[in-house]
Amino acid sequence: MKKTLTAGLSVAAIASAAFAGNLDSNPNYVKLKNFHPKGVSNSQCLMCHKTMDPGIVADWEHSKHAKAGVGCVQCHVVPKDYPTAFKTHPYQGANWTVQIAVSSVTCAKCHAKEVKEFLNSGHARAGVQWLAGNGSKHGYLMSKLAYNYESLKGNNPSLNGVSGAKMDKGIRTDGSVYNAEQKTPRIANLNVANTCIQCHGTTIKLNKNGVPDATTWPNDGMASVYPDGGVSSCTACHSRHTFSAAEARQPAACENCHLGPDHPDKEIFESSVHGHIFETNQQYYNFSTGKQIPDKTLRAPTCFTCHMSGINGLHATHNVSLRLKWNLWAPKSFLRTGGHETAGWAFWNGGGKIINGKTITRGNAKAGNPNGPEAARAQMEKVCATCHEVTFIKNYFQRVDAAVNVYNQYRAFANKMMKNLKAKGLIRADVWSDPFFKLYYYLWHHEGRRFRQGAAMGSPDYAHWHGVFEVMQDIREMNDIYNYRMRMLKKYGSAKKVLENEPPMPVVTHE
Ligand code: HEC
Ligand code: HEC
Ligand code: HEC
Ligand code: HEC
Ligand code: HEC
Ligand code: HEC
Ligand code: HEC
Ligand code: HEC
Repeated sequence: MKKTLTAGLSVAAIASAAFAGNLDSNPNYVKLKNFHPKGVSNSQCLMCHKTMDPGIVADWEHSKHAKAGVGCVQCHVVPKDYPTAFKTHPYQGANWTVQIAVSSVTCAKCHAKEVKEFLNSGHARAGVQWLAGNGSKHGYLMSKLAYNYESLKGNNPSLNGVSGAKMDKGIRTDGSVYNAEQKTPRIANLNVANTCIQCHGTTIKLNKNGVPDATTWPNDGMASVYPDGGVSSCTACHSRHTFSAAEARQPAACENCHLGPDHPDKEIFESSVHGHIFETNQQYYNFSTGKQIPDKTLRAPTCFTCHMSGINGLHATHNVSLRLKWNLWAPKSFLRTGGHETAGWAFWNGGGKIINGKTITRGNAKAGNPNGPEAARAQMEKVCATCHEVTFIKNYFQRVDAAVNVYNQYRAFANKMMKNLKAKGLIRADVWSDPFFKLYYYLWHHEGRRFRQGAAMGSPDYAHWHGVFEVMQDIREMNDIYNYRMRMLKKYGSAKKVLENEPPMPVVTHE
């Protein structure tokens, strides 16, 4: 075991040396890297934990880590004064104890390349971008949605520095059905822990003994931020404690988050020709290797092939934004001209401090390929070129770009109407009770994304029936409401009266 450990670690050490530069900006990383606990071995951990946690130990025993001599100690043992130290663990040494919350700072000791690439990717902002309160209108609106509408936090004093009163503004108070939980912020927090953060991640909070709080942990969300400055749950794709690459190469490793009405990448993939081939030709797929060899390890691409793999001479990468030309989730699509993502680095560099606007930031929605959107597209085309020819690929992407353009035009119509209504006071204060606003939201957040992502990944059903068809319906319904409100404004001469006298207009949720 000792011998393999040295061999395994020296390979990892080379990788760290080549990429260590920027990661060293986090003092906790430097501390952990140079920490050598005395008098502790894996077999000591197993003494108790083999019977306490047979599932965890069995997973670990099947992992490549176990074979390389990377055990409980390498990931869970930290200095006693480390920010995530579990101070009341029954078994401790003179200079060490264990950590329950293990962040990517620990992984970076041996996997600097992957951690760095992850920090450069759009995934790295998943946890903080919607919690970024001050200085970020967008983050503020998302926090408000999660806490004040869906969990109805009510008179909570503040969230990330935004006052409770401000957070409450615009919420209906004219009936008890709008007040699911007014008094206890804790209940709202616990409920939010079931929702957004399980996909996005959150700020992991520990009590003074290093035990994580139930409002934040357990959590496999994409980019939780930890008290030691670590960003990500590497476990989002590599479930613990096998930490297998083969598992992460399966589409299922992406599909537990990338599905549903607002980003149905699972459903899009399954209804594409590539998905059909994957479902019917399993014998051609070998996920135990990253090598992408047609008819030996795959017949058609899966998620990781296109977005991450080292196919056709490309570098394998943990930066899923590197091959994206457009931003397809934003209300209006734009080219990804912004270089690398910044939100993860801001937190990493801060070493775990929580300062809104400084270490908790909205990030860089334009993050993509540092050489620009056309370089991103060229990389994606290189993926296709493994199995398709030039005319096929060029024609295909002309159609993708056209879909983005058509969507942006619909979005511009919607925006113009919204602006006019707002200017005249014709949008209700509680936007989630306003039929026009709801359509406006579905148009970009659900249907518009389905339209664009369906076209980009070859699913005609999502590009059309769940996509542009629904967008077309939205725009007509919105136009009707718009004309009606403008007409009534002429009649009543008061926006308030228009909204008060408006008959209920149920909006069909376009699934
Ligand atoms: C003498 C028995 C014993 C030994 C040896 C031991 N542990 Fe533990 N460990 C426990 C007990 C008991 C708990 C539960 C304590 C609690 O939650 O307050 C625990 C809890 C933990 C937890 C937190 C689990 C959770 O979610 O509550 C981790 C992580 C952990 N141990 C890791 C280790 C590592 C790593 C080692 C080896 C360095 C180790 N333990 C050695 C008994 C032991
Ligand atoms: C490669 C690193 C790594 C190794 C090796 C490792 N762990 Fe973990 N462990 C983690 C990570 C990451 C988490 C999740 C932490 C988080 O979500 O913040 C975790 C979580 C845990 C938990 C709490 C989760 C639960 O389901 O209760 C326990 C207990 C635990 N590990 C015990 C062990 C034991 C015992 C060993 C040795 C057999 C071990 N770990 C080896 C990285 C590791
Ligand atoms: C002490 C060094 C060390 C630490 C800490 C460490 N690893 Fe590893 N890891 C290794 C080594 C060595 C290998 C290579 C094993 C092999 O290829 O045989 C490896 C392999 C892997 C693999 C590839 C497994 C496969 O199936 O090919 C993944 C994924 C991985 N580690 C994830 C993690 C994550 C996530 C963390 C943090 C929670 C982590 N590691 C912490 C040393 C480490
Ligand atoms: C734990 C949930 C989760 C898993 C698993 C997951 N993702 Fe994501 N992904 C997210 C979230 C959340 C975002 C949005 C990040 C943001 O912009 O805040 C995202 C964004 C993305 C983006 C867009 C990034 C950008 O720059 O806008 C791509 C591409 C992507 N994921 C691909 C993948 C692939 C491929 C896999 C599997 C190998 C995967 N994801 C697994 C949650 C997940
Ligand atoms: C099922 C997993 C899941 C849940 C639950 C979820 N999201 Fe997301 N979210 C994603 C994924 C995946 C993306 C990326 C979509 C894309 O790239 O097209 C995303 C994108 C986003 C974005 C746009 C990216 C950015 O950087 O601005 C925001 C904001 C967002 N989510 C906030 C939230 C909030 C707030 C909640 C809870 C009210 C929530 N999400 C619930 C998976 C989820
Ligand atoms: C979005 C899903 C996803 C996330 C999140 C993720 N990985 Fe991976 N990881 C993969 C995939 C897919 C592969 C296989 C890549 C390949 O074969 O080219 C992989 C492979 C690896 C490997 C093996 C590399 C090799 O050359 O054999 C290591 C080590 C690793 N990941 C570490 C990490 C660490 C550390 C983190 C957290 C910073 C992390 N991963 C987060 C999907 C992910
Ligand atoms: C055939 C290659 C291919 C496969 C397979 C594939 N994608 Fe994509 N994906 C693309 C392309 C091309 C784009 C659009 C890139 C651009 O902006 O030009 C895209 C866009 C995305 C986006 C939108 C990012 C944004 O800007 O909002 C997400 C998220 C995503 N893919 C996730 C996935 C997931 C998850 C899977 C598997 C279920 C998957 N992809 C399978 C090629 C692929
Ligand atoms: C590993 C090989 C492989 C890769 C890589 C690959 N494809 Fe495919 N693709 C296939 C196979 C096989 C088919 C099925 C051909 C058929 O329909 O008879 C297919 C079918 C398609 C189809 C539908 C068939 C048609 O004639 O309309 C489209 C569109 C497509 N691929 C686009 C792409 C794009 C775009 C990329 C890159 C982002 C890509 N493919 C990458 C293997 C691949």
